[in-house]
Amino acid sequence: MIEKFNIPDAFLMRFEKIDEQHQELVDILNRCVYALSSNSFNIFEEEISKFCPLAVSHFKYEEDLMLAAGYDALESHIDHHRVALEHLSEISKRNHDSIEAKWYILQSMFDNIVMDITKADLKFDEFLIASGRKLTRVQYGSAPNNS
Ligand SMILES: [Fe+2]
Ligand SMILES: [Fe+2]
Repeated sequence: MIEKFNIPDAFLMRFEKIDEQHQELVDILNRCVYALSSNSFNIFEEEISKFCPLAVSHFKYEEDLMLAAGYDALESHIDHHRVALEHLSEISKRNHDSIEAKWYILQSMFDNIVMDITKADLKFDEFLIASGRKLTRVQYGSAPNNS
């Protein structure tokens, strides 16, 4: 059983509101975890229904930032987001009557966020560092809140 979803520090972008939005997506999933653990299925449904709309606005937010930054791989990132949304829409339409199916959906949605970060967002991170818009990972130190 899943205890709680967490985004590893290595996946932090430290740029504008990207991390905050990734965390908001994960927070929805964790509220779903709590709802499932306490058999509050109405709360589960209410929370899970917020996930796709928030993912849509997160993707739009990133694309706007990338456009403003003159990111050269914007087109492929947009394409990646489109595929991710298709996948999310397919996941959320699945029958999730059983508890096992509900857990599976949560895990799939979390995997989707992780895929967004590892397959696409971190490439934007490299671009931001290379173009001098933010510090390198080493300059930030190993952990974000270790000051
Ligand atoms: Fe993202
Ligand atoms: Fe992204």
